[in-house]
Amino acid sequence: FTVPTPQNEPVKGYAPGTPERASLQAKLTELQAKEHDLDMYISGEWRRGNGEAIKVVQPHKHSHVLGVTHAATGAQAAEAVAAAKAAKREWASMDFADRAAIFLRAAELIAGPYRDTLNGATMLGQSKTAAQTEIDAACELIDFLRFNVHFAEQIYAKQAQSSAGLWNRTDHRPLDGFVYAITPFNFTAIAGNLPTAPALMGNTVVWKPATTQQFAANFLVQILEEAGLPGGVINMVTGPGPEISDVVMADPDLAGIHFTGSTRVFQSLWKHVGENISSYRSYPRLVGETGGKDFIIAHPSANIDQLAVAMTRGAFEYQGQKCSAVSRTYMPRSLWEGGLKDQVLDITSQIKYGDVTDFDHFGGAVIDERAYAKHTALFKRVADDKEATVIAGGTADDSVGYFVQPTIIEATNPEHEVFTDEYFGPITSVYVFDDSDFDSVVRQAADVAPYALTGGIFANDRAAIARASEELRFAAGNYYINDKPTGAVVGQQPFGGSRGSGTNDKAGSWQNLVRWISPRSIKENF
Ligand code: SER
Repeated sequence: FTVPTPQNEPVKGYAPGTPERASLQAKLTELQAKEHDLDMYISGEWRRGNGEAIKVVQPHKHSHVLGVTHAATGAQAAEAVAAAKAAKREWASMDFADRAAIFLRAAELIAGPYRDTLNGATMLGQSKTAAQTEIDAACELIDFLRFNVHFAEQIYAKQAQSSAGLWNRTDHRPLDGFVYAITPFNFTAIAGNLPTAPALMGNTVVWKPATTQQFAANFLVQILEEAGLPGGVINMVTGPGPEISDVVMADPDLAGIHFTGSTRVFQSLWKHVGENISSYRSYPRLVGETGGKDFIIAHPSANIDQLAVAMTRGAFEYQGQKCSAVSRTYMPRSLWEGGLKDQVLDITSQIKYGDVTDFDHFGGAVIDERAYAKHTALFKRVADDKEATVIAGGTADDSVGYFVQPTIIEATNPEHEVFTDEYFGPITSVYVFDDSDFDSVVRQAADVAPYALTGGIFANDRAAIARASEELRFAAGNYYINDKPTGAVVGQQPFGGSRGSGTNDKAGSWQNLVRWISPRSIKENF
């Protein structure tokens, strides 16, 4: 059984008049024609949560209810844990090829018959444009599934040395327990990867998706079910996190957490594990991708056109709700005042957010009322702030959807909150510096924010690139030279950062998969 090195899934364009556009449009109509029941999936059965009913709406048209999910009660979360534990032995002893075939089949289903479904659900539920959905719910997710199988195969092939008279083997066991996957709203690909990566390595999983991502999550489970995933291997529970986490994390067989979300929540999970460490049978593996305050720093030798496009796309695609989004920039005065500012403001003024289903807008709405309130509170704070000036956007309107305009805030103090705090919205900041201060600005930017996820340097001067890259060595886990720091591709730029940004266990790479095994060394004498 050898999986050929996968190729990245080609991105479809959805241009006007194409059959692929017509097909996706038809699916969008179909998906909106009824209110969906967004149930849980435990032991291979769909079940209704017994807790509160939660409406899942379209963020760009919040009067439209896509479906209703019901929160799991504590007892139901416990059932999901029991289901994962019951399915463990059989799943763990299944041949890798048989497990892998299920995920490769899921990738084929997403690439073909379910592409529109998953793209359509992500557009409606998470307010993504067709272009942004295609690189997430289709291509990145398909890539995760295919590349993970390829990486896993390489891991399983690694064996210890033997010598005459004795045979050493490595038994790449899964973890001794179950894995808890907690996924965010912003990428359907992450929602797919976090439960399936541990499952591929022989673990069973309790998965809690973000409620705001529940619409696409339900289709994901249907696809895995159709691909042949046995009951109990991935158990999806619905509803708000804390009550579910209390139950799941109280179980002594919790062997790992695969998390993407906020730094605050990941830290609280880590504390919970720490406080209860003696109650677990093993030390749970904690794998998290958390916040970011991702940067672009320009040198006076940078290309202005390239910089203007990178800054605006990096900051405003998907309404700035990528963990990798550009949320602080550092621009030399000669460039900023020599045409860059005008270009950036011009591009920003042409960005239109609106209903993503009409294929006309650059972006949609922010995810929910809470995100909207957070951004508008910032606009109020900045209005009275002498150190910060809104030079674009700064307005919002939630009458139809949670729309926040693309916003640029220029600040004169490089320690201002706009250079340190994560907003997770279409808001970026600029610090303009004298050209001769480049090195000291790089030094300051390297450590000012408590995160280290993504960042980019723009320069044509090789010596400046070398100096900055050394200074920024620990400031970003994904570091870009003359490119926007978003849009990492599976198999090409393994993704993750350190400091407050996570454990840097590189999603979409072998490094992530080794966290989900606990090898046994076997020595046999002859
Ligand atoms: N992996 C995404 C990116 O690189 C963010 O989660 O943009």
